Amino acid sequence: MRFDVLTLFPEMFSGIDASIVKRAAEREIIEIRIHNFRDFSDNKHGRVDDYSYGGGAGLIIGLQAILDCMRSIEGHESAHKILFTPTGNLFTQKKAREFSQKKHLIMLCGHYEGIDFRITDYVDEEVSIGDFVLTGGEIPAMAVIDSVTRLLPGVLGNEESAACESFTDYLLEYPQYTRPEEFEGKKVPEVLLSGNHEKIRQYRRFKALELTYLRRPNLLEKAELTEEDLRFLDMIKRGEEF
Ligand SMILES: C[S@@+](CC[C@H](N)C(=O)[O-])C[C@H]1O[C@@H](n2cnc3c(N)ncnc32)[C@H](O)[C@@H]1O
Repeated sequence: MRFDVLTLFPEMFSGIDASIVKRAAEREIIEIRIHNFRDFSDNKHGRVDDYSYGGGAGLIIGLQAILDCMRSIEGHESAHKILFTPTGNLFTQKKAREFSQKKHLIMLCGHYEGIDFRITDYVDEEVSIGDFVLTGGEIPAMAVIDSVTRLLPGVLGNEESAACESFTDYLLEYPQYTRPEEFEGKKVPEVLLSGNHEKIRQYRRFKALELTYLRRPNLLEKAELTEEDLRFLDMIKRGEEF
């Protein structure tokens, strides 16, 4: 899978070359190319931004350099083009799965006060990574590259680790523990040491439902719940323990 990123700050992407993403690139499962669209500016000073029509603080990035840069990318016509903006649709695990099915993503990072709104006619979708405002689209681009890469076949060592993670079934993941069994008086839940796989499965499901109910109850509306889940949820609502 190929990621092409258009940015004014390519140096911010040095952080992406680590861990699982780095390994995926080394194995040629992904390829990341970073483009500085300032290099495509037809302004002799390399300027890419200007004042906002109608007035207001801050500078708006114009279309010329961005589009010339985008059109220089091999395969740009068929690539899926994403614009990062706080006004876009919220990025979710479901969206990450959808993107992981694509062969080629072109991602456009704004900066300053954003990009001339007419850019929306040249992209396939507008994406926000949350209800907060960042300095630029570079961190959102890294978030998308990271979350999409770990869903690609062969990237994670253990295929199961992506299957049970938070948001996969619209549930948060259950709590996990490692050694030692007791740390500063805090014990690992007894059931996890029991070796009883069915009990452990039930406990984890209960805890996933409990965390989701307490922290993100709106997710439960989308989750497919079994009869066992509904029974567990009744217990959780009554404040009962597993
Ligand atoms: C300072 S922001 C511009 C904010 C814009 N004036 C507004 O109020 O919507 C500069 C750039 O950062 C990126 N950005 C900031 N917050 C973001 C978010 N939550 N999700 C995606 N991109 C974001 C976008 O590319 C945006 O063009």
